[in-house]
Formats: sequence, structure tokens, C-alpha cells
Amino acid sequence: MSPSPDVLCRELQATVGPTHVLVDPDMRAGYETDWTGRFHGASRLVVRPGTTHEVAAVVRICAAHNAAIVTQGGNTGLVGGGVPRNHEVIVSTARLTRCDAVDTAASQVTVGSGVTLAAARNHARAVALDLAIDFASRDSATIGGAVATNAGGSRVIRFGTMRAQVAGIEAVLANGEIIGSLSGLPKETIGLHLPSLLCGSEGTLAIITAVRLKLVPWYRHTATALVGLPSLAAALDLLPALRRELAQLDSIELLMPSAMSLVCEHLQRTCPIPVDAGAYLLIECAGNSDQHDELMRVLALHAPTNATAVATDETARGRLLELRDNVTTAINHRGVPLKLDVALPLGVLSQTTADIEALINRLAPKSTLINFGHLAEGNLHLNTLNAGSADATITDQVLQMVIARGGAISAEHGIGIAKTHWLVAQRGAAEVDALRSLKASLDPHKMLNPGVLLPEA
Ligand code: MLT
Ligand code: ZN
Repeated sequence: MSPSPDVLCRELQATVGPTHVLVDPDMRAGYETDWTGRFHGASRLVVRPGTTHEVAAVVRICAAHNAAIVTQGGNTGLVGGGVPRNHEVIVSTARLTRCDAVDTAASQVTVGSGVTLAAARNHARAVALDLAIDFASRDSATIGGAVATNAGGSRVIRFGTMRAQVAGIEAVLANGEIIGSLSGLPKETIGLHLPSLLCGSEGTLAIITAVRLKLVPWYRHTATALVGLPSLAAALDLLPALRRELAQLDSIELLMPSAMSLVCEHLQRTCPIPVDAGAYLLIECAGNSDQHDELMRVLALHAPTNATAVATDETARGRLLELRDNVTTAINHRGVPLKLDVALPLGVLSQTTADIEALINRLAPKSTLINFGHLAEGNLHLNTLNAGSADATITDQVLQMVIARGGAISAEHGIGIAKTHWLVAQRGAAEVDALRSLKASLDPHKMLNPGVLLPEA
């Protein structure tokens, strides 16, 4: 039987200080609902440890009281993995904000898991280095959350996902033991690679407290172009030339017309491209010298259209990026979306997108579908508004279609609680059993993020 919350609360207060244990419902509220408003639940309390040792002590106290934990970073997750479901204790990483001196020789830095992407980036830029990962919620999303979900964003085409940026990790296990290494040796073959194991584990195997990050050069010259193309198929046709001929290609972001018109309306701006397009690409090249001429040369050769807006200075670039960065906010402003973050092989992306659109129109004729994403990875963000009771059917049929066509039910947001039901179809029963065994050996009492990632047996 659980003891009264007061005992747990008092012990936590004695460990982290009374001001870092939030019990009052008003104080907890911001931690109990996700960014979209779709996922929410009441927590027992919120605790905000300030060091790795405090995290370890918090975990031991929770374990002693049989109180399950949900770890939360910036609360920008989109699949319900970071908000409570069943009166869990929320362990917020907000105070784990160590920012060590950048090791410029190794091009690495150690940061606390609660450091935001923007703060880590600015820290690296102070010594002319940069973070390889970037996405719109950079001011709130944390490094720990990005590792836990193996986040991607816009620069994956060049640098890979978060998994590829992690050189070391420190974490607290469900029994309160601290594990990992932050020495960041690029070469070591001493068994399983713990950072790889924890990337994408969504808080179910351990609480990540610090990360040793690989950094990349901070390129001072970025050329940005917004190109309108007749269709998604035409955008895909451009991909080989962009990859082949642009040595400094940094990102290829996709906005379908529904996303472009929504964000323009939200920002009260007119679309920088005057003609209607079937798909918009925001293409960036970044390097140590001016990239503009090279980007324009390749676009003139392979996408000869007057539907191109080019940024020639940082202000103009900011105006173009603003369109991409504000799509999620614009959607949330309209209502609570059904969000499906999927990846498809490029060869079937265009046809499958059309098939998904037709499917959703059929299942929920009054709904609005807003699509955008990251083209090079075949990563589509499908956002359906006003689908009403069709939400569950849409989710099931879209995810089944994605699996059948060789895609992934989650490209970068994770499984959370939103997609556990489709994990076996995606990964196979044997693989899910293996993941379950791993979970059971590291967290036998289901203390860490219960219900997330793995479907109930
Ligand atoms: C993005 O690419 O902007 C993010 O993945 C957020 C989203 O899908 O809403
Ligand atoms: Zn995305």
C-alpha cells in the first residue's frame, strides 16, 4: 500500500529543498498538459532536482514509496510520453543545466539534460562551434528530451539524428544507481554502447542527467531559398540533384500548401511565392564561404521556375525560416490536432501521401489536414484538425498503411503513449519481447515512465 503523499513529499523536500517540490495544483498544471493539449493527466507532485546525485536520491525515495516516475524536459513532446497518466511523480530536468567548458580540440561539450537546444547551441557558438540538431521548439526542448526521443529536425540530412551526436551519457537507473561516462572518447569497443541504448528509450530505462555532445562547425554563411514546385512528386524529383550537387546542403524542409497557407494566415503575412504551388521546399546550404551563388546555380539548372524566394541577408532569412518554425504553433492555435509523425521510403512518399489524404477525407470529410515535414528523410508530419470521433480510425489506418509500405510509425517524435499499440506490427513480436526483457531487467518494478513506448503485455 502506498504511504500518504505527505511522507513522500517531505522526504523529497528534504532532498531537493521545499521550493523544488511542487504540490499545489496550480504549480503542477503546466507540467500536466502537453504542448498540443491532447495529452494530460494529474501528477502526484513535481520534483525538480538540481544535480545528478539529487536525481539519484529522488529515484531511491520514489522507489521506496513505490511511486512511479515520469521524466519531463521542456514538455515539447508530441506523443504523450512526458506527461503523467496515473498520478506519477514528475521528475523535471529543468534545473539540470550544467554547461561545461567546450572541449574545442575534441569538438565536444558536456551539458546537463535540462539545457535547452538553444542554450546548448549558443554555448557552442561562443567558440565558433554549433549544435548539429535544430528544430522549431529549440527554446524549450531540452537536450535530455532530444536524446530520449532520438529527435531529428531539419539538419538530419547532413548530420544524422540525435543518436549520432551523443558521445557519452550519464543517467540514473530505476534503482538510483548512477551510470555512464562523459569522457567522450570517439573510439571505444568495450561492449554495448550505453548512449545508443538510451537514445530513443523515452525515459523508460533510466533518467538521463547529462550528455556529452559532439559539436559541428558553426557555418557563418547560410543561403536559404524557398521554392514552389508543382507537386510533392516534383519536389522529390529535385532531391537527387540537391544531394549530388550541393556539397554544403544543410536542410530541405517541406511545407505542403495547407501548411503554407495556415502559417501565412497565422503570421498575417502573404506567401513570399506569388504563384500557387503543390509543394514548397525551404532549402539551406551552410558553409564557410558564401553559398548563395552555388544554391542559385543548382536551382536554376534543376528547378527553373520563377517560384523561388531567396534570402540574401539574415533578416530575409529569418523571415523565410519563420514560416517553417511557426507551423506547429499555427496548428495548435486552430485546435487540438491529431498528429502523426511518420517516415516513408522516398519512392512511395508521394503516392502514399495522396492515399493518406484520400483516406482521411473519406473517414472525416469535415476535417482539415495540414502536412509538412522533412523531405530528405521522407518524414511527414500529418496534422488532422476536427476529425472528431474518427481520430482512432484515422490513426489505425494511416499507421497500418505506413507499415505496409515499409515506413516508420514514428520518425522523430517517438512512440510515447500515442503509438504503443502499433509497435508489434512495426517491430515484430520477437523484437518487442527482447525490448521488454531489457526493460524488465533494468526496471523490474516499472518505476520509469510506465505505459510509454512498450505496449502492455
Ligand atoms: C517540426 O518539425 O516542426 C516538429 O517535428 C514539430 C511538429 O511536428 O509539430
Ligand atoms: Zn519535425
